Amino acid sequence: MTKVIMDCDPGIDDAIALTVLLAHPEAADLIGVTTIGGNVQLYKVTKNAQKLLTFLGSNTKIAMGQSDPLVKEIETAGEIHGKTGMDGYQFPENSLEYPIVSDNAITFMNEEITNSDEKVNIVATGPLTNVALLLKTFPKVAEKIEHIYVMGGSIEQGNITLASEFNAYVDPEAAKIVFDSGLPITLSGLNLTENKAYLTMDEISQIKNLGKTGEMASAILDFYASAEREKGMTKIPVHDACAVLSLVAPELFTKSEKFNIEVSLTNDQFRGMTYPDRRVYAPDDKNIEVLEDVNREKFVQYIFDSIQSHNK
Ligand code: RIB
Ligand code: CA
Repeated sequence: MTKVIMDCDPGIDDAIALTVLLAHPEAADLIGVTTIGGNVQLYKVTKNAQKLLTFLGSNTKIAMGQSDPLVKEIETAGEIHGKTGMDGYQFPENSLEYPIVSDNAITFMNEEITNSDEKVNIVATGPLTNVALLLKTFPKVAEKIEHIYVMGGSIEQGNITLASEFNAYVDPEAAKIVFDSGLPITLSGLNLTENKAYLTMDEISQIKNLGKTGEMASAILDFYASAEREKGMTKIPVHDACAVLSLVAPELFTKSEKFNIEVSLTNDQFRGMTYPDRRVYAPDDKNIEVLEDVNREKFVQYIFDSIQSHNK
């Protein structure tokens, strides 16, 4: 069985990603959800994980991670995800009874991975602070990490600045540590998620008809879409779903290329820029597979089917 830990900052697209992941126990055994400050503050992100796992009837362990990036102050994205970080839907009142098994995601991940009888995959859809600290604090754990599936960075446009994507921008030092680890990484950047892996408004309204889970998903996506459209987006990128789908349904992705990637640590508009090494003489040990295209129709259908499957 493919064991997975999801490190996330729900966040509406993180919530859709988690909903998709939990719809496929045949493809992924989710042994833990770790939370990271990002879209909103850590306490809100953690509450959102509790709300979602309660709603979906999951019993996956939750562990709280870092509230802030390694070096700089946190910058959040409440304008996109709302005051709660997952606005648009009233989740079950008893959600906050959902147990938090640890307030230290780093030791939690180390124990779960070290004690696992097989290698573990990490899906990371927020700033990479927790994953970076795991690798730095417990270097031997890397031997038990199968693959890291990241939503973050971009080999084209930014979304926080012209050059930088939010997750990498919030903690570029962490992104650099993870990218330089040499571990196999599949990267879903904005070049894929904004340009190719999006939902239309019509598709979001269709989700409303996919049972109770569809009502929840469409309600939070409606909020997210209104915020994205205020920015001028007409295609609504479900960024984090790509990180999950690249694990459970890699066949959806039709083009990719391997690179080593440098992360800018400057304190300007290029902070967090993720730049692929395209030099002819670039070293051969390229560990990051950058996804560049997806079959969008199949991507959308997979999300629909995953949401629907929760209603069984
Ligand atoms: O830039 C998009 C990423 O930043 C997504 O993971 C979204 O949830 C936010 O965390
Ligand atoms: Ca996220």
